[in-house]
Amino acid sequence: MAQSREVRLKSRPEGVPKASDFEIATVEAPPPGPGEVQVRNLFMSVDPYMRGRMYDRPSYVPPFQIGAAMEGGAVGEVVASNDPALKPGDLVSTMFGWRELFNAPAQGLQKLSPALPPQAYLGVAGMPGMTAWVGLLKIAAAKEGDVVFVSAAAGAVGQVVCQIAKIKGCKVIGSAGGPDKVAYLKEIGVDHAIDYRATPDLTRALAEASPKGIDVYFENVGGAHLEAALNAARPFARFAMCGMISQYNDTEPQPGPSNLMLVVGKRLRLEGFIVSDHFAEMGAFLQDMTGWITSGKVKWRETIDQGLEAAPGAFIKLFKGENIGKMLVKLS
Ligand SMILES: NC(=O)c1ccc[n+]([C@@H]2O[C@H](COP(=O)([O-])OP(=O)(O)OC[C@H]3O[C@@H](n4cnc5c(N)ncnc54)[C@H](OP(=O)(O)O)[C@@H]3O)[C@@H](O)[C@H]2O)c1
Repeated sequence: MAQSREVRLKSRPEGVPKASDFEIATVEAPPPGPGEVQVRNLFMSVDPYMRGRMYDRPSYVPPFQIGAAMEGGAVGEVVASNDPALKPGDLVSTMFGWRELFNAPAQGLQKLSPALPPQAYLGVAGMPGMTAWVGLLKIAAAKEGDVVFVSAAAGAVGQVVCQIAKIKGCKVIGSAGGPDKVAYLKEIGVDHAIDYRATPDLTRALAEASPKGIDVYFENVGGAHLEAALNAARPFARFAMCGMISQYNDTEPQPGPSNLMLVVGKRLRLEGFIVSDHFAEMGAFLQDMTGWITSGKVKWRETIDQGLEAAPGAFIKLFKGENIGKMLVKLS
């Protein structure tokens, strides 16, 4: 019988996760049962939201269980099938996470179009890309002429936000950590790229980039970035509250932004959103995105680590800023 390895959560991390919070187990992979297929993963996704699922507390997704394989996005190839819907060689997108080989009901799997490389469906044409599309166009309703500020701008979501904003005729200010990321932001058309690690005063940097302020903030980071965005906001600015990665590993709650009262006087709209609430619009997103990719208007970067055992380290890299674009793990 075939065997598979999987990465399990061994302990709930305190602060920044450590490699020792995970363990690798070998399990048997029997032939697929009725209505099932067997899938060999090609790429696995590591995503910041997984950190939230490591806490044992209620959230919009249930907590990971200690001793269970890490669930999450992956793309793989069907290697055996017991269902007419999928045949060996088909590429599928799944949520069965950090495993090499597994069986799953065929009906729950999304067959991938060969139009793009399979791992693109974990990034630019997958959940992160759709997060950018929903947050910028539906939640913040960005429009031509807006000044859009994006934090974690060189990451999986941020790189797509910046490019959609340019397509829509916005001026884009992107913030990211380090000169390589700044160079990448310029490459994808960002008008003002800020290296926040080398910038003592983000509010001043934003004022220099756009003296008239910002109309939209795409929030990925929280903390000092949110404070600076509140300072820079023009009246009636819209904030798409996508994530606050700077706080995911906090062991104590952080104080809120000291300038939150600006929301009142500036009549700001801050709206949180979760991309999965919008999955019914996946078709519209994919139509836009494949068009932009085909016409060369959207490009992307990936940072790829190799092998199942690399998954915990690749995940930890997200919190150290060691990825440019989508962070992935390649198998086989
Ligand atoms: N609402 C939703 O449905 C949804 C869906 C997907 C993602 N998200 C959120 O979107 C954000 C981006 O996710 P992603 O998948 O695109 O990840 P990502 O941006 O590819 O990777 C994370 C990046 O965050 C930055 N970062 C990490 N710790 C930081 C800190 N303490 N201060 C400032 N920056 C820090 C790093 O970039 P730098 O080197 O530039 O610091 C790092 O590369 C996250 O907040 C995530 O939770 C939300």
